[in-house]
Amino acid sequence: MIVCSCNIISDHDIRGAVGSTDDELFSAAQVYDCLGCTVRCGRCSQSVRRILEEQPPRCVQTGTF
Ligand code: FES
Repeated sequence: MIVCSCNIISDHDIRGAVGSTDDELFSAAQVYDCLGCTVRCGRCSQSVRRILEEQPPRCVQTGTF
């Protein structure tokens, strides 16, 4: 499903961006930066945040055993 009509970005693209980076993504701007584009009108920001909130939390590796 297309989430951002300005950049033609789907929910699948957003989940792919989250899975392809080691950085934690918290906002539409961070996701779009990762995808090589920018937020334009901003109507999609709430939908992007909702998709980010659906992602499982990342494990934090402390380096200790
Ligand atoms: S719909 Fe995403 S920036 Fe316009």
